[in-house]
Amino acid sequence: MSEILSNLAQDCHRILSETPGPDGREKIAELLQNLLSDPANVETLVPLTTGERDLLYQDAELGFCILAHNYDSPKTSPPHDHGPSWAIYAQARGETEMRDYDKIEDASAEKAGKVQVSRTYRLNPGVAHVYNEGDLHSPTREGPTSLVRIEGTDMSKVKRFRYELA
Ligand SMILES: [Fe+2]
Repeated sequence: MSEILSNLAQDCHRILSETPGPDGREKIAELLQNLLSDPANVETLVPLTTGERDLLYQDAELGFCILAHNYDSPKTSPPHDHGPSWAIYAQARGETEMRDYDKIEDASAEKAGKVQVSRTYRLNPGVAHVYNEGDLHSPTREGPTSLVRIEGTDMSKVKRFRYELA
């Protein structure tokens, strides 16, 4: 593990232990913004050899995960939340157009929920954004992009509901 990753993991662990709610996540987003504003750190944390979802670190005690993502072509996701978790998206290369949504109708295992767009904004390199539990969003990436994400728990093991535009 690189020193940068190991320091980031330790800092996240300390911040989330001291300040487990949304305020702690904002502190981590600030930390990521500072880190990723230095291209050397981008190279270390998200080298271009990174896959579409590489798990860099999972905290044994708190469960949060540090992930690196590298997309070499456009990549769009439908509206989604992060189930019982939160997530921080930190742009490292390229540009993401992010949409936030208001929920119009709840989702269930049988039926997609309904949403409407509340806000559209861009994540440029060095910008990090916190999505708390239940926040709905969708990223659109029209070219190659790289990002670092921190999730409250390993979302690859969580079943999520679908949402569609109302
Ligand atoms: Fe997301």
